[in-house]
Amino acid sequence: MRHLIDILDFSPAELTALMDTAEDILAAPGKYAETCRGKKLATLFFEPSTRTRLSFEAAMYELGGHVIGFSEAQSSSASKGESVADTAKVISCYADIIAMRHPKEGAPLVAAMNASIPVINAGDGGHNHPTQTLADLFTIRREKGRLDHLTVGLCGDLKFGRTVHSLITALSRYEGLKFVLISPEELKLPSYVKKEVLRAQGIPYVQTTDLEGSLPELDILYMTRVQRERFFNEEDYLRLKDSYILTPEKLRGAKSDLAILHPLPRVNEISVAIDDDPRACYFKQVLYGKYMRMALILMLLKEAGRL
Ligand code: CP
Repeated sequence: MRHLIDILDFSPAELTALMDTAEDILAAPGKYAETCRGKKLATLFFEPSTRTRLSFEAAMYELGGHVIGFSEAQSSSASKGESVADTAKVISCYADIIAMRHPKEGAPLVAAMNASIPVINAGDGGHNHPTQTLADLFTIRREKGRLDHLTVGLCGDLKFGRTVHSLITALSRYEGLKFVLISPEELKLPSYVKKEVLRAQGIPYVQTTDLEGSLPELDILYMTRVQRERFFNEEDYLRLKDSYILTPEKLRGAKSDLAILHPLPRVNEISVAIDDDPRACYFKQVLYGKYMRMALILMLLKEAGRL
């Protein structure tokens, strides 16, 4: 049974195939409108979400399938103490595929080990968010025409930012990448990502607190939110939350073909004055995420022999 728990579960060739399918769906959505007829996606969201949950649901509807699920732990039997393992076994009796978001790192993996249907990690704590990475890769490929030979700046909460961890891991498999890691001291990229992903593969990176000074060399700028929900104390959050605010003035030194991405939600870190700048890609990124999730659902259902 194939699942998507970590972006490394898929080879670069499989990621390319998913992006090619997403491109095809985008060009001819009608061709796919009945492909999942009679199939059910279960969205098990133990943590809030707008984009991931609704894009999964839109994706399944646009493939002709159905959606069941819950959007908060309180409305599920998890609130009565049911385990993730039992939940996965139960949902396997009702649905063809699961998309799960959970605040605990590793919960979707536990679900995958106990389910008899494919499980997709829709974000687990501060760990990974592989389907956001699918959206990010597709956006970069569409904007830059390639995934190699790029200087990629990641800015904001690199410590708890699961989208950042998954994206660095995914991009580390392409040639000629350089990372500029821009964060406050307290929110630096975890050592395990630097050691196991960047240093292990000899990928060049710099760590800095300086966004403006880093901008001129970047091909991609991946902004992230400082996440209130990951902090143990409010005081630290309030001190760090506005560490970086991207404004039109700060963008003056940036390349004319810079691509600005953000997994969203945005709070203050990108001024709304940038939304109309042709370099702002974050709302396109939202749309591309839906097409990548459609491609992913199709691939996993086919591999599971359910299509
Ligand atoms: N990017 C993302 O995961 O957004 P949501 O939390 O709204 O799903």
